[in-house]
Amino acid sequence: MFDTLEARFGERFTVVDLGCGPGSLSSRLLDRFPLARVVAVDFDPVLLFLGRRTVHAGPRRLTWVEADLRDPSWRSQLPVSRADAVVSTTALHWLRPPRLRSLYRELAHLLRRGDLFLDGDHRALPTTVPELGRLAHDASRIARRRLREAAPAPSWDDWWAELEKEPELRPLFAIRRERYPGGSHHEHTATVGAHRRWLRAAGFRESAPVWQQLDDFVLAALR
Ligand SMILES: C[S@@+](CC[C@H](N)C(=O)[O-])C[C@H]1O[C@@H](n2cnc3c(N)ncnc32)[C@H](O)[C@@H]1O
Repeated sequence: MFDTLEARFGERFTVVDLGCGPGSLSSRLLDRFPLARVVAVDFDPVLLFLGRRTVHAGPRRLTWVEADLRDPSWRSQLPVSRADAVVSTTALHWLRPPRLRSLYRELAHLLRRGDLFLDGDHRALPTTVPELGRLAHDASRIARRRLREAAPAPSWDDWWAELEKEPELRPLFAIRRERYPGGSHHEHTATVGAHRRWLRAAGFRESAPVWQQLDDFVLAALR
């Protein structure tokens, strides 16, 4: 993703990170591009708290925005009216497809011709290859398990369970439960082909995967 950003914009650009969580992508982006500005958007009060505590880049380079991407007015909370790029990782599959299609149209308003949207997320393989789809899904699980074995880390569920024990975070967890009644698992996956059609309908001229590992893709779209 970062190489694609550099190829398009060089070193200086403004990027909006959708579903930024604790800033996993934003912090790496700020490390790699000291002249970049990041607007990091999320609706999880716990993850935003962690991000604000752990990612330090100064207010001119990093702005945290607490906004719900399910709400069509989310853009009104941004400190910018336009950006050079929108990025996201493993977040937009939380949105139901009709909402995601509208979000793509909203992104088209945030970007100008030639600007970029880069989304790294799980995608379903086409229904014409059902057996390969299942294989890629299972292989992905194996790859994640092997990663955890190589660099021991708690699973997603264990990590949340540990965090919830922190007394300081209890009020934030209460807000989190109201905002995400379904918990932390949301899998609205669609094929790359479906996303490309939705992006085209939203006003993006070109889109294509620029990276793939099994059923994880980075989809790039040019406004
Ligand atoms: C799996 S985490 C990914 C976090 C980060 N992008 C990363 O790659 O580590 C998914 C993120 O999407 C955020 N998210 C899900 N639905 C959202 C919504 N409606 N509005 C804003 N953020 C949302 C969640 O709060 C969570 O931080």
